[in-house]
Amino acid sequence: MLSLGIETSCDETAMALVDEGRILQEVIFSQVDKHSIFGGVVPEMASREHLRKLQPLWHSLLKKSERRAGDVELIAVARGPGLLGCLLVGLGFAKGLAMGLKVPLVGVNHLHAHLMAPALEQEIEFPAVGLLVSGGHTSLYKIDSSIEFELLGRTLDDAAGEAFDKTARALNLPYPGGVYIDRFASFAEPDPDMFPRPYLDNASLDFSFSGLKTALVNHIRKHPGLVQENPLEITPDSTPDPELARVCASFNLAVAETLQAKLQRAVSATGVQNVILAGGVAANSMIRQKTIKLCSSMGLRLILPGLNLCTDNASMIACCGEILARHGLYHDLELEAVPRGRKIPWDYCGLKNSGIEEFRN
Ligand code: KG4
Ligand code: ZN
Repeated sequence: MLSLGIETSCDETAMALVDEGRILQEVIFSQVDKHSIFGGVVPEMASREHLRKLQPLWHSLLKKSERRAGDVELIAVARGPGLLGCLLVGLGFAKGLAMGLKVPLVGVNHLHAHLMAPALEQEIEFPAVGLLVSGGHTSLYKIDSSIEFELLGRTLDDAAGEAFDKTARALNLPYPGGVYIDRFASFAEPDPDMFPRPYLDNASLDFSFSGLKTALVNHIRKHPGLVQENPLEITPDSTPDPELARVCASFNLAVAETLQAKLQRAVSATGVQNVILAGGVAANSMIRQKTIKLCSSMGLRLILPGLNLCTDNASMIACCGEILARHGLYHDLELEAVPRGRKIPWDYCGLKNSGIEEFRN
């Protein structure tokens, strides 16, 4: 089934063609440079950029893949969570294509897509515990099949990615800051006592990263020299000052060890043998290393997506769309965008109810 994936939930405009779980072609326009001067994503600007880029990306995708629009058999679009205006642009484009091409439409939960992204590279075995660590979410799930998820725990305040980005901002490093902290951390040995491992003294599988952020802000107050003067001159390949590197390494270690502690508890509580690590923060080298070590010491199979499949991309949306379609789950043109903070409804319908049979007559 040749499936088109459309991803516009935040600041990446991405499209991909996936065929039976294999990536044929991907195109992506990252808006990071446009937003970085503001220190974060400006929602209105992001929606306008999606609107400007979707059409040219669609043509470039067809050209690069040497396919025609009429070859597409399924349209999968990220329907939330995300920025409402951004999601609406993607949904409008997807619905227009579905109507014009007379092909089925399926709205994909962006978080579901992150967790299923490794299916593009390897077979996922179930049941599994999934640790999703992204810019907006930090959640643990028990995953019984590719469409059955039970939420075990989630962050009560900041997400792990948000903690990285806010830390980077406090240090006046460029946005998004996770990758800078990751790279700069490799220049120093972490001090395990510099920052706390937050919200571990309880039996819960929830997370809380706001205390860690406060500890960092207090540390910066005592050492104002850590704050960088000109973020626009810093790249991920810059060589950091040794003290900045030590702070990055220590902060990174605190996040990594906190995630590991809760992941280990989730595995023990569920007794599963498979672990999926997913989301943008899963690209972090220390978190990857620690998770590999933890899983090997516990005799677990770790399903770890490649770096490009961790951060936002459209192949994971197409792949998840195929999974849903294989279960006979589609949407009609009433499909609604769901912004961050609202529960995504399980409102799929069968192909007949999606109205697609009607289109074809
Ligand atoms: O999954 P994602 O691309 O978008 C969301 O769905 O949020 O995740 C983006 C987040 C950002 O907070 C970014 O700073 C973080 O992932 N991130 C990293 C790394 N690469 C991206 N955090 C730590 N280390 C990295 N290497
Ligand atoms: Zn994401």
